[in-house]
Order: sequence, then C-alpha cells, then structure tokens
Amino acid sequence: MMSSDGPELPLLRIGALTKRFGGFTALDNVSVDIRAGERFGLIGPNGSGKTTLINCISGAFRTEAGTVVFRGEDITRLPPYVRTRRGIARSFQIPRPFKSMTVAENLMVALDFAAAADDSVSAAQRRDSVMSILTQMGLASKADVSAARLSQVELRKMELARAVAARPKLLISDEAMAGLSSSEVDEVLDLLMSLAGQDITIIMIEHIMQAVMRFSERVMCLDAGRIIAIGAPAEVMANQRVQEAYLGT
Ligand SMILES: Nc1ncnc2c1ncn2[C@@H]1O[C@H](COP(=O)(O)OP(=O)(O)O)[C@@H](O)[C@H]1O
Ligand SMILES: [Mg+2]
Repeated sequence: MMSSDGPELPLLRIGALTKRFGGFTALDNVSVDIRAGERFGLIGPNGSGKTTLINCISGAFRTEAGTVVFRGEDITRLPPYVRTRRGIARSFQIPRPFKSMTVAENLMVALDFAAAADDSVSAAQRRDSVMSILTQMGLASKADVSAARLSQVELRKMELARAVAARPKLLISDEAMAGLSSSEVDEVLDLLMSLAGQDITIIMIEHIMQAVMRFSERVMCLDAGRIIAIGAPAEVMANQRVQEAYLGT
C-alpha cells in the first residue's frame, strides 16, 4: 500500500532483518528507520554486513526474516528492478560501468531502465536529462568519452551519476571514496552533499571517518551483522564498542 510521505512516516523502515549465507548469519535482527531527507552514515569493519544490508534494501538478496518498508509500502518481496522504479538506487562498491559505451550512453541505460523506456520522451529530451546530470556531477566534458578511459574518481562520479539518472528518492553509496586522494574525497563528498540538498535521502557507506563525520546527521555502526551503535556521529565514534570493533580489524 502506498501512502503519502507524512513527516512522521520514515522513508525507509528496516524491521528485524536477518540474512544468512548457509549457516553463517551476515545480518542478525537489524532494525532501523531512516527519515526522508536524512544523511545517514553506515560504518563497520570489513565483513560486518554493510554491503549485505544494502543488497537486502535494493533487493539483490532475499532475506530469511524481517521486512523492508519504503514510503509506507512493504517491498520485502519485490524484485530489484521494481525497487529501482520505486525510487531506490545504489552505487556499487566495485564500479560496474559498461566499458564499451560512452559516459552519456552509460547514463542513458540507467535513465531508460528506471523510466521503463517511456516512448513519449524524445531522444533529445533524454540527452538533455543525461547532460544535466553530467553537468551537475562535473562530468559534462566526458559525456562522449568511452567509460573505459575514465580515471578512478571519474568512474566513481559516473557510478553516482548513473544512480542519480534513476531519479532516486533514496540513494545508497557503497564506498564511493575508496582509493581516492583526499582532494578527490572532498569532490565526491561535495557531490553527495549537493544531492542531499535536492531532496535525495542518502545512505553513505564509508571507511574514511572524516568524510563520514562531515557528511552524516546520524551514523550506525555494524559489527558481525549487528547494530552496535547508532546516533550522532561524534557519539558513535566515541563509543567504546565501536572503537574496539575497529581496533580488531
Ligand atoms: N554472496 C555471499 N555469499 C556468502 N557470504 C557472503 C556473501 N556476501 C557477503 N557474505 C559474507 O557476509 C559477511 C558480510 O559481508 P559484507 O556485507 O560484504 O561486509 P561489508 O560490506 O561490511 O564489508 C562477510 O563475512 C561476507 O563474507
Ligand atoms: Mg562492503
């Protein structure tokens, strides 16, 4: 059931989610509400379940137990492409560009996929949409360059641009800053901030703590598939269990 986005209704409600791989429990009874417009940081040591949680939200994984409710609608059993069309987009930890296509063509694919290739939209209009996103992401000059020729930071930006092309209400960024220099981290952080300013709710998974601290209104830390802390960034960073979880890796 679709309901209006009242101020009290969370955009995303994850209820008692459990995900197992064979006998291994990757997510154990995870519950969290994310409000519309929130900048939400998701942290935790390697293997703590961050990407698995994103896969459960985006629909790539079926869950053993629990619910995912998006804008008041139970989407737990919906396939990934339907969730994309409902407004959930994610970037991948390892970018997955179509390397034989140009940057603009890569975005076109995402645009058409999300809109289910609406025939009433002309090719020129589609190109305009793509160019405006590329301009916003600082990639306009690369529109007609092959994706295979992009630098690491450009690839990361294109990955985010492809997610934006789906016109998401919720954008999940999975380690978009890994391997970048500090000035490149700032560039990607500025982009995420500007998207957040445009009514896109963002879940940012990141290991670079300074970026998480600057970006997030709230931070959640996972360890071994469980929430060990959630709250204001400074509080979570100062939490003893969080510090121990990171020292252990
Ligand atoms: N497709 C999968 N099959 C089996 N085990 C998986 C799969 N995906 C993730 N895992 C396991 O689940 C745990 C959490 O992984 P992941 O969510 O990728 O962690 P993070 O993103 O926090 O580094 C890890 O132990 C990982 O090996
Ligand atoms: Mg991960």
